[in-house]
Amino acid sequence: MTRPLGIDDPGVDWSGARVLVRADLNAPLDDGRVTDDARIRASVPTLERLLAAGAGVAVCSHLGRPKGKPVEELSLRPCAEKLGELMGRTVELLPDCVGDDVRARAEALRPGELVMLENLRFHPEEEANDPAFADRLAAGFTHYVNDAFGAAHRAHASTEGVARRLPARAGLLLSREVEVLEGLLTSPRHPFVAVLGGSKVSDKLPLINSLLERCDRVLIGGAMCFTFLAAQGESVGASLHEGPDGQAQATELMETAVRLNCALQLPVDVLVADRFAADAALEVVPTDDIADGWMGVDIGPRTSSSYREAIMGAQTVFWNGPMGAFEIEPFVDGTRAVAEAMAACFGSTVAGGGDSGAAVAQFGLVDDFTHVSTGGGAALEMLEGRTLPGVAALPSTS
Ligand code: 3PG
Repeated sequence: MTRPLGIDDPGVDWSGARVLVRADLNAPLDDGRVTDDARIRASVPTLERLLAAGAGVAVCSHLGRPKGKPVEELSLRPCAEKLGELMGRTVELLPDCVGDDVRARAEALRPGELVMLENLRFHPEEEANDPAFADRLAAGFTHYVNDAFGAAHRAHASTEGVARRLPARAGLLLSREVEVLEGLLTSPRHPFVAVLGGSKVSDKLPLINSLLERCDRVLIGGAMCFTFLAAQGESVGASLHEGPDGQAQATELMETAVRLNCALQLPVDVLVADRFAADAALEVVPTDDIADGWMGVDIGPRTSSSYREAIMGAQTVFWNGPMGAFEIEPFVDGTRAVAEAMAACFGSTVAGGGDSGAAVAQFGLVDDFTHVSTGGGAALEMLEGRTLPGVAALPSTS
């Protein structure tokens, strides 16, 4: 199996190198403060390693979707401050990511020095993967390291273009993400169980198909279970569910599961609410007994315990998507049950996709998982079996 060459592979002397590191520092902000520093924290080991090896480093990233122009609220300043806090040093934020001043600063980088460039997406050429912009990004640097796994599914100038202009390597985070997720695709230990939630079947069609081919069991929760139940002719009340097209896709997936001998398991009971609110009236009902006007907001306790049993008996578990609206306290139990079962499972346990990672962090269980991916879309695209442009652009082992 080939893999991208990493910063620890032979062939590069980092001492005295001036390195452009692409990280994914796209962290959630509230009122100018980072509310979840998981991605920033995950970028630290690569930076530390390069600095310790004698490189000067400029780290760059996107933040949000400013649509090609400077937007004050999407400045990377809060991320620079958070990174500085995590690394115990001051991280200077340069006012731009390209231009004569940035080039001069890159050329003058001293061993052990770390600066941050301003939001790449303040320039429309970044997302257009404009060749001239990639040249400007590379200017002044001797090497490029891509550690932005969360953005590796984007063929942008900073993830794809610049990798073809400088001697390039994968950072420690990107290398680990690729190794773990590729392992799920190519050599999972069995039984291999996937737990899938989230709202729409149609959004995750390629992912579910890919997992049906590889897993022994796929456990469905979240709002998407109501599309499956509706496709089976159940009445789902006011639960979020898709119309005829989504239901036809759900039917097709259930047929595929039978053909591939994969057990596609749906909830047998659900928590229903009369309103989508923390103070709603609640009831646990069998999935074939959801009354008109009531909506499913979480899997029920019988489902949780059967999913727990399946997870505990697995050698490999992959989880994407919460089991219910876990951000509302009374609807959290099913999601917590899955997270706790995975934390207690002796097999290899991987969570991927934004919400599941956030849930694992909320329950304080990150260290009990084999791996919690920092990639949302990137992790899912990889598990669909697609090639990520940011990974493909890096030199790999032969
Ligand atoms: C993410 O948040 O999934 C990554 O940072 C990619 O962001 P994007 O979807 O705006 O490209």
